[in-house]
Amino acid sequence: MPATSVIGAQWGDEGKGKIIDLIADRADVVVRFQGGANAGHTVIVEGKKHVFQLLPSGVLNAGKLNVIGHGVVVDPEQLLTEIAAFHADGIDLTGRLLVSGGAHVVLPYHKVIDRLQEGRKAGIVIGTTGRGIGPAYADKSLRSGLRMWDLVDEQRLRPRLTANVEDKNKRIVALGGEPLAFEEVWEQALEWGWKLAPLVTDTGRLLRAALAEGKHVFFEGAQGVMLDIDHGTYPFVTSSNADSLGIAAGAGVPPRAIGRQLGVCKAYCTRVGEGPFPSELSGATADRLREGGSEFGAVTGRPRRCGWFDVLSMRYAAALCGFDGLCITKLDVLSGLRHVGLVTAYEIDGQRVEEYPADTALVERAKPVIEESPGWKENLSGVRRFGDLPPACRAFVEEICSRTGVPWEILSVGPSREATIFRESA
Ligand code: IMP
Repeated sequence: MPATSVIGAQWGDEGKGKIIDLIADRADVVVRFQGGANAGHTVIVEGKKHVFQLLPSGVLNAGKLNVIGHGVVVDPEQLLTEIAAFHADGIDLTGRLLVSGGAHVVLPYHKVIDRLQEGRKAGIVIGTTGRGIGPAYADKSLRSGLRMWDLVDEQRLRPRLTANVEDKNKRIVALGGEPLAFEEVWEQALEWGWKLAPLVTDTGRLLRAALAEGKHVFFEGAQGVMLDIDHGTYPFVTSSNADSLGIAAGAGVPPRAIGRQLGVCKAYCTRVGEGPFPSELSGATADRLREGGSEFGAVTGRPRRCGWFDVLSMRYAAALCGFDGLCITKLDVLSGLRHVGLVTAYEIDGQRVEEYPADTALVERAKPVIEESPGWKENLSGVRRFGDLPPACRAFVEEICSRTGVPWEILSVGPSREATIFRESA
């Protein structure tokens, strides 16, 4: 099967961007299939940090085709900004980037509504990224959203945008905001449509043809399994299928095309925003992980909540997606800790639980059962072979793999491309 999927196995921010960038030289096509500019993929090449939110992480590898599939919600302003930033760095994406005509468009009113909803005193606060993701997916489900096909067609755009701005302004006012001026939104949308028109096409057909020709297609997940709208900690989730179950629908390919699946996880856990996080730590160890791992949101700058590696949620993610291999990132961040921890069970209402519960209310009440093992002092960033890792670190990795039932494939020991251990060289 000439396809590989790279999926976040925790609550997002696992380091998927680095993994995709590393293996993208084996790909012909790299595809985003869900999410939008809520993602923040960081890739460091030759000391230069690239952060992209909408572009697939294959953009840094010359000669790869990058596709934004129709399961993505596209913020045109952000997309054009990212394309321009790459252009300024001498990276030309002409002919290497395509956007599905079926992808829904994130418009200014979606962002305004997202922020107003989050700012309400009443109701659930999710801690969203404020990028308009939920409101855009809501319009998709309501069948009132605008797609890229509409954005690039002036004739269809005007009546649909008129109806939407009218409707959304009522919601904005009800939430205590200022209504948007239609002409301003119209002018912006028109310009975005003009600029993006050359990229818009039927990417599903193109991907099916690429797969049929035996091309190697990489599906790049954004966020992670535990933020999945159906299988994550609902309602504290994003609004798309952020696990491999979303690939077929979001890219327009048959489910059997999903191919080999790599789950990306950190050697510990982080979460941004609200919602249950059973392995969460507080105090000095949490601060140490946050500082050591630069755990601040790539999109919002918010400090990430930090905790030990959660075996239960990882086993759940692996069973749900069917991971063939794990890419464990940020092992280097654990260097210098006297003990490293794994959450191997939860205690819920006085009962020991070893299976991740599907009911969020139970996850909220879960207390972690932590098993500690000895840490290691050594700096790992120069290690390139598994056998050269300190014994305690090897034991920690092996414990994760045996407890989750998934072998490791790639270990990341630092932010740069080079700071990586591949299974082949183990
Ligand atoms: P939204 O996707 O902006 O609606 O946010 C919903 C939840 O998903 C919030 O808790 C966000 O912090 C979280 N989230 C969204 N995108 C990411 C991401 O790329 N990494 C980590 N968390 C994310």
